[in-house]
Amino acid sequence: MSETPIKIFDTTLRDGEQSPGCSMNLQEKVSLARQLERLGVDVIEAGFPIASDGDFDSVRAIAKEVETSIVCGLARTGEADVRRAAQAVASARHPRIHTFIATSDIHLEYKLRMSREQVLEEVDRAVRQARASVDDVEFSAEDATRSDRDYLVEVFSAAVAAGATTLNVPDTVGYTTPKEYGALIEYLRERVAGAEGVTFSVHCHNDLGLAVANSLSAIRAGARQVECTINGIGERAGNTSLEEVVMAIKTRSDEFSGLALGIRTQEIYPSSRLLSSVTGVQVQPNKAIVGDNAFAHEAGIHQDGVLKAAITYEIMTPESIGRASNELVLGKHSGRHAFRDRLEELGFEVEGEAFERAFKRFKDLADAKKVIFNEDLEAIVADSVQTAGDRYGFESLVLTCGSDAPPRARVGLDLDGRSVEREASGVGPVDAIFRAISDLTETGSELIQYQVHAVTAGLDAQGEVSVTIQQDDRRVIGNGVHEDVMVASAKAYVHALNKLEWHKQRRDVDAPRGI
Ligand code: KIV
Ligand code: ZN
Repeated sequence: MSETPIKIFDTTLRDGEQSPGCSMNLQEKVSLARQLERLGVDVIEAGFPIASDGDFDSVRAIAKEVETSIVCGLARTGEADVRRAAQAVASARHPRIHTFIATSDIHLEYKLRMSREQVLEEVDRAVRQARASVDDVEFSAEDATRSDRDYLVEVFSAAVAAGATTLNVPDTVGYTTPKEYGALIEYLRERVAGAEGVTFSVHCHNDLGLAVANSLSAIRAGARQVECTINGIGERAGNTSLEEVVMAIKTRSDEFSGLALGIRTQEIYPSSRLLSSVTGVQVQPNKAIVGDNAFAHEAGIHQDGVLKAAITYEIMTPESIGRASNELVLGKHSGRHAFRDRLEELGFEVEGEAFERAFKRFKDLADAKKVIFNEDLEAIVADSVQTAGDRYGFESLVLTCGSDAPPRARVGLDLDGRSVEREASGVGPVDAIFRAISDLTETGSELIQYQVHAVTAGLDAQGEVSVTIQQDDRRVIGNGVHEDVMVASAKAYVHALNKLEWHKQRRDVDAPRGI
């Protein structure tokens, strides 16, 4: 019996990026897109091209880079939106335009101030315009789950008649329940004119913690595309988590028999780690599949059972999601070739200057810390790739602090290619470091959050510091990794300032964020 393919549509770079603190720059988005392709997602929603020049450039860069996955750009139904999305995905091997408009009476009355007829006209016009540029057009009825069902049938039928190839049924506000959502998908599949020739897609938000359950129920009802994000990031409580929906289908293949996914599950954990290190947003420890504790057995009875036979308490293996952790991978005598081979095994392609920086960091770390784990290498790579093309570069830190004298920090930076140094004191050592850096860069941003996270277990673990800073209405997160947490703090702050600088270089054209 042939299997039915379920498409995985990843929107980490679009809906996911809309979550607070998850904004990424072009380089970071391209490296995530490469990882998503390795993971095997069918569609990468790369951004919302009309939102800003930065979004447009990122979608265009991803369209050029990605080879096998479909690259999709989001557009409202306005003519300029669709045109901009078409331009951004034009060079993709497999381009898609995703256009949307709200269909619930609540949105029509309070947000769009449009009649149902006007919305129908917009749908027809936008889908036809999109189809004039690409063969693959997705249409979404925003707030579908609070829309009148028969009106939804009309809207989707109009979209199909205009040439849409995928119909997406978003639960925009995370309001539906599994039974209701499955029934809605069935209702639409039975009544939309031309339903048999298109793919039904689902897009759930997690406001009631039901996004994954709702998506699974929709698959049972005939949906064949699931929209989701790595680590479940997204607006408010997030989107359907990719790793949860994929592993539910794989682990319970008895319940979901006959469905085929193109995902390479061993790339799930590396994808999760890459996203966390790029955004600085760590996943909660008890998060299913990718949380620190997801495979940790604490209770004695459980440990005993797992040691006797893993099947007693483990429904899937850590290896199946690429989590063969705590493995000694390299030591201080390992050379360039071993280092490069190991990075390739982990799925990283690091070349040129970034590779040299990463190799030097590895050698320094191997001197300080005898045991190097995969997580250490991932952190080193994230740190080294980040710095390519930045305006500010961290060079050195000398710090004096303790119980008897006020902390003083002397920081050396590469500023537009010149080495500069500044000394400052502060309330604590981190304050002193940040003041010295602010003085040197002449930036005035507000520190919103400072977090430290140990990359691996052990007293000699590298520290990963994330700082969230804000300037005007722009909030960014910077990360730094080092075995000395104070150096990691300086690097994280410099990384965040580089991100602010990157955004400053790009003028926002029109900012329809927060759909
Ligand atoms: O949640 C939503 O409705 C969306 C649409 C743009 C698909 O993100
Ligand atoms: Zn959404």
